Amino acid sequence: MTAAGVAFQSLVEALSDAVIGQPHLAERLAIGLLSNGHLLIEGAPGLAKTRAVKILASLLDASFKRVQFTPDLLPSDITGTEIFRPADSAFEFQPGPVFNQLILADEINRAPAKVQSALLEAMAEQQVSVGNTTYNLPEPFMVVATQNPIEHEGTYDLPQAQLDRFLLQVVVDYPGAENENRILELARAELRDEYKSAELTSNRVAQAFIDNDLLKQARLETLDVHMSPAVQEYLVQLVVATRNASVYASDTAQIMAGDIEHGASPRATIALDRCARARAWLKSRDYVTPDDVQALAHDCLRHRLVLSLSAQSRGRSSDDVIDDLLSMVPVG
Ligand SMILES: Nc1ncnc2c1ncn2[C@@H]1O[C@H](COP(=O)(O)OP(=O)(O)O)[C@@H](O)[C@H]1O
Ligand SMILES: [Mg+2]
Repeated sequence: MTAAGVAFQSLVEALSDAVIGQPHLAERLAIGLLSNGHLLIEGAPGLAKTRAVKILASLLDASFKRVQFTPDLLPSDITGTEIFRPADSAFEFQPGPVFNQLILADEINRAPAKVQSALLEAMAEQQVSVGNTTYNLPEPFMVVATQNPIEHEGTYDLPQAQLDRFLLQVVVDYPGAENENRILELARAELRDEYKSAELTSNRVAQAFIDNDLLKQARLETLDVHMSPAVQEYLVQLVVATRNASVYASDTAQIMAGDIEHGASPRATIALDRCARARAWLKSRDYVTPDDVQALAHDCLRHRLVLSLSAQSRGRSSDDVIDDLLSMVPVG
């Protein structure tokens, strides 16, 4: 295995050790990093979403900022402001948190649309315009946003066009009962370390540290992962089927065609390609299998499908539709 491969495997292990019973989340954070994409993590409060991103930040050579999204936040609280300096009677730009390399946009759906789009535009453009000046964002640049799925008063759903900007939407669920004991033990141990002000970083964490050269190298290596024409065709057909399910003859296909109001854009195809490669690379393979594509299909597609009213009224979710899609589209 290459040095980058070893480092990323340690990173996933360190994250999985620190966020118990959520191996899926650890792997997705690594895939996001490798694919140079942004993540939206959805889950109930208290499932260690914030914790996972803070730990990721500690493993990277990246400036980190957490922004708690609240109803009173302003777009300039994200992007920055020009401040007048009377001494030299000129404006000086005070960069906002978006100028960090890893940004935790915590509870993104608690801030109004204007604030959300200030962040999402910056993510899309890799730059910010304030006044007459355009400022480039740093590199690497990754946004991890979290949101609470429970419908609360005073939350603002991200618009579809903005959801599409996220490479992956990862769903975090309650850890199994057997993991609650381990979480409890870890929390006690950490508190003890904190009281003794012991060094929290273990050897494993030190090994998992990824500097920017290693990250670049890892990204290059994932580009070299081979995708056969058959797997590529499968990947493309999966995404295309979200737009034209009715060409498939089965009953499932006919129902699905009526369930999807808007299918996934080419951004979904690109996302699935990048993520499937990253997964293969993380598993020390130099080729993508249909299994890689299937494993990422839900996280790449769920936030990009708009379901019809009829599907919604029957309680169908994007995940149900993607399950059907996977059973319908033939592999290679
Ligand atoms: N899977 C887990 N592994 C380790 N600690 C956990 C886990 N789930 C919850 N915790 C504990 O619960 C706390 C709440 O986590 P937090 O990151 O604030 O949740 P969220 O951001 O999802 O609301 C964490 O600091 C941690 O002590
Ligand atoms: Mg949180």
